[in-house]
Amino acid sequence: MSRQIPVGSADELAPGQRKLAFIDGRSIALFNIEGEYYAVENSCPHNGASLAGGQLEGRLLRCPAHGLRFDVATGCMPGKGGLNLATFPIRNVTGRLELSLDDAQPGQCHSQQCGT
Ligand code: FES
Repeated sequence: MSRQIPVGSADELAPGQRKLAFIDGRSIALFNIEGEYYAVENSCPHNGASLAGGQLEGRLLRCPAHGLRFDVATGCMPGKGGLNLATFPIRNVTGRLELSLDDAQPGQCHSQQCGT
């Protein structure tokens, strides 16, 4: 059974907001996009830049360093192939956000495309 880690109150992450969580030595970027919560590794798979401050276009997060884009739901780049960003399940449990590090989901991009 995966460990659910509290990462704060849902009230602290209103639609359009983002924040960082530091868990077990990892930096995780959390987003609320139109009421849906997303959590991704705060390290670009291209060259390790922080993604937390990247520009969002819908669910596509643009890396501030070189501009690659990743779907925060799937970790995929638009189109087929490319680099994969690790994503983590996050859910709202009666107003408390819980994340599972054990269920990180890297490398799903070969069989699906981004929801652009
Ligand atoms: S480090 Fe993110 S695109 Fe290069």
